[in-house]
Amino acid sequence: MSNIGSYEKRRENFSWDIAKEVLAWKEDEILNIGAMCSDRICAQGKGDKKALIWQGFGGKQKTYTFNDLRVLSNGFAKFLQDLGVAPGEKVCLFMDKIPELYVSFLGVLKMGAVAQPLFSAFGDESLEVRLLSADTKVIFTTRKHVKKVRKIQDRLPALEKIVVVEGNPNKLRDEEIYMSMEDFRVENFKVYEAGPDTPSVLHYTSGTTGQPKGAQHGHGSIWGQALTTSWVLDLKDDDIYWCTADPGWVTGTSYGIIGPWSLGVTQCVLDSGFTSAAWYKFIQENKVTVWYSAPTAIRSLMRDGEELVKQYDLSSLRHLASVGEPLNAEAVIWSEKVYGLPFLDTFWQTETGSMMITNIPGVKIKPGSMGKPFPGIEAGILDLQTNEPVTEPGTVGLIAFRPGWPSMFKEYVKKPDIYRSKFVGAADDAMPAELRVDESIWYVSGDRASFDKDGYYWFVGRDDDVINTGGHLVGPFEIESALVEHEAIAEAAAIGKPDEVNMEVVKVFITLNPSFEPSDDLELNIMNFIRKRLSPLAMPQEIEYMEKLPKTRSGKILRRYLKALEWGHEVGDLSTLEDD
Ligand code: PRX
Repeated sequence: MSNIGSYEKRRENFSWDIAKEVLAWKEDEILNIGAMCSDRICAQGKGDKKALIWQGFGGKQKTYTFNDLRVLSNGFAKFLQDLGVAPGEKVCLFMDKIPELYVSFLGVLKMGAVAQPLFSAFGDESLEVRLLSADTKVIFTTRKHVKKVRKIQDRLPALEKIVVVEGNPNKLRDEEIYMSMEDFRVENFKVYEAGPDTPSVLHYTSGTTGQPKGAQHGHGSIWGQALTTSWVLDLKDDDIYWCTADPGWVTGTSYGIIGPWSLGVTQCVLDSGFTSAAWYKFIQENKVTVWYSAPTAIRSLMRDGEELVKQYDLSSLRHLASVGEPLNAEAVIWSEKVYGLPFLDTFWQTETGSMMITNIPGVKIKPGSMGKPFPGIEAGILDLQTNEPVTEPGTVGLIAFRPGWPSMFKEYVKKPDIYRSKFVGAADDAMPAELRVDESIWYVSGDRASFDKDGYYWFVGRDDDVINTGGHLVGPFEIESALVEHEAIAEAAAIGKPDEVNMEVVKVFITLNPSFEPSDDLELNIMNFIRKRLSPLAMPQEIEYMEKLPKTRSGKILRRYLKALEWGHEVGDLSTLEDD
């Protein structure tokens, strides 16, 4: 029996308060994600239950109980208090998927500060932009990654402390603090009493224009995350759950920390590079039952074929789900064939904080569709011209949601106008807080889709130029600004180019400065330049040299035109491309 029971009945009788019932949470208890994922689970008598089964490079294993999470996260919370960090201040977590990342996340939240996890493969420029924007006060990192922080620390006036939690302490600089998690077991800590809107987790997400935006969530997001985890991922007390996402991205926190641990469920983490064999071995050894992953990984597993699957005992698996990119019908059908279970597609975003449109256990799957709105979510497709909800099945428009679900982001840090622009139907002078209660308002996702006559949603594509590579959004503007810092490059445009496995990869068009000539060396040099400054995800897979880049009359580069050519789409009337 699935946790959700009947989807239709849940839709009819829905209230977000059901999340409180699912968590057995009483109104007089403290609302704080950090404590609800550790202290509360111990108070329920599950202190000795395994919370985290971790495996690193080379197969090294560590296991932590919920009581370990409790006292070790207390340690981080106390450590931050002693450093003078105040509630509301930003603490960045910049590490690989090591246990310290998961535990410090809880500790930061327990003392009321804001956890800002950043993908550890980010280069110094990606890191700088995000730390500067957030006025981050403390960064937790490791010996391996501290070099990148050193490079930029002089340009970060708000950054007061660099704390290194792993690696050789003898090689640190005087101003860096070493902290070993295991030495900070603190039995009692007075947890910060948060409200639903108290800032909790801050994730940066890329758009078409400008630098990435910090989507700020509140502690009340836990209701949405816990309920969707229970009803969609169907986690039960004895499950062994594996979310393959990195907490540097929202899936890795909403469903790789908060969802499972708020429900007291054991989860596994594999902190090593992807190979199909390593993943199957991990599932076999840990007897994983529920697996939440992404289409790029699934397509890679498909590429490695069915024979490999047969070499492992994957019979522990009982439920699979996917997020981040369109999950093609072939992948769903293939997974049903080889694992005996289809991957259930789920659609949501950094901004939504939890699943919005999703396939649900017990509801018929239409392979290739994202499923239906989660109970309690009012979704619509807005007409591309008028922003009015369409009524005709099959009409392509913008996916939109009525504000009011608990995990909705509260703001873009320091960017109130961009926040406002994500909503339509609001009175011009409406403030963000009012947006959340006005029933005439839609939050517009930036994706295009249609629904069919049975209410299933079908993804069409993004409505902007953001590149989705392997389920990670990369902003073309970030790549272009970094490219023009290269001595050889005069102008640059970045687009997503179709790719069989990653859906899209980065392709760039450049013009060179006068004294430079195209060459293989230069190409490699440019690729590495971007990989180091931004990240491996942003690194161009193809570079095309141009005499000049196509531009609008006002001088803006016509990225859409280049994209249409690349994808073999109708280029159409150039003037329609001009205003983007
Ligand atoms: O374009 C959609 C795509 O990923 C975007 C959100 O990315 P991000 O904020 O990084 O969050 C990713 C994980 C929640 C969306 O706007 N996307 C996400 N899920 C799907 C998807 N595209 C198609 N199908 C999905 N299931």
